Amino acid sequence: MPAQIIDGAAIAEQIRQEVAQQAIAFAERAGMPPGLRVVLVGDNPASVSYVRGKTRAAEEVSMNSDTIRLPTITPEEDVLEIIQSLNADRNVHGILVQLPLPEHIDERHILNAVSADKDVDGLHPLNVGKLMRGEPYLLPCTPSGVVEMLLRSGQAPEGKHVVVCGRSNLVGKPLAAMLLLRGHGGNATVTVCHTGTKDLPYFTHQADILVAAMGRANSITADMVKAGSVVIDVGINRVDDVSRKSGYRLVGDVDYDAVAEVAGAITPVPGGVGPMTIAMLLQNTVKAAEVQLGSKD
Ligand code: GUN
Repeated sequence: MPAQIIDGAAIAEQIRQEVAQQAIAFAERAGMPPGLRVVLVGDNPASVSYVRGKTRAAEEVSMNSDTIRLPTITPEEDVLEIIQSLNADRNVHGILVQLPLPEHIDERHILNAVSADKDVDGLHPLNVGKLMRGEPYLLPCTPSGVVEMLLRSGQAPEGKHVVVCGRSNLVGKPLAAMLLLRGHGGNATVTVCHTGTKDLPYFTHQADILVAAMGRANSITADMVKAGSVVIDVGINRVDDVSRKSGYRLVGDVDYDAVAEVAGAITPVPGGVGPMTIAMLLQNTVKAAEVQLGSKD
């Protein structure tokens, strides 16, 4: 039987509608809409496209949203200065610096500089530490999108064995920490696999829920998947496709067609985790705005 398709686009739309209501309620109380600023250094085509999606989605839910685009050669000190001014701006409640950054900029300096209260990316060390201590506050958007998608599609991770393939700071590590939290959306048994894992198929076969976050097309093949399991594909890879006007198409980390014949449920690419990431960014922005308003009362 072919797998149930977990429709991330539809779930994300539901979340955006909820956030739109919260944004309106916030604006009424605060006298200003929630404000989001995305900082993009350079012109990486995938980043340009992601950032456009983020600011457009924020505008659609009546946020005050803008992208600050800087040339690739911008010195680190200039980026830090811009972050300081956004930290001090009372109209700005959420700040996201798009990654990856150009090589001459130290990512850690930039992520450390964003005010932890405005860190809607959940990547500031304080927010990472809170998550690890079991006191989640602002959570990274892609892994929280994965958890939300599992919950809203009736695939709660409680008591399940979740195998996460990938150990990045953006996805694999925070996702593992979230799944280990006590309570709803957590309480899973978690295995994290990575490039140093010997016999990856041995582990992927144990998964009730398998998360592919390796960043490489076709890394998860049908022979690696347990029949009836849930497969979440976090990958977004551009592969050449001369039949497209753009010259490429997007594929995930999972060999979708073949795995869909084995899995019980699967997320598509595009239309799976991608829209969830943006929806969670909007949710984080409203949450950050509400906390900042509350602390000013
Ligand atoms: N680049 C790819 N994904 C992300 C993300 O979730 N946040 C940031 N800041 N950059 C990214």
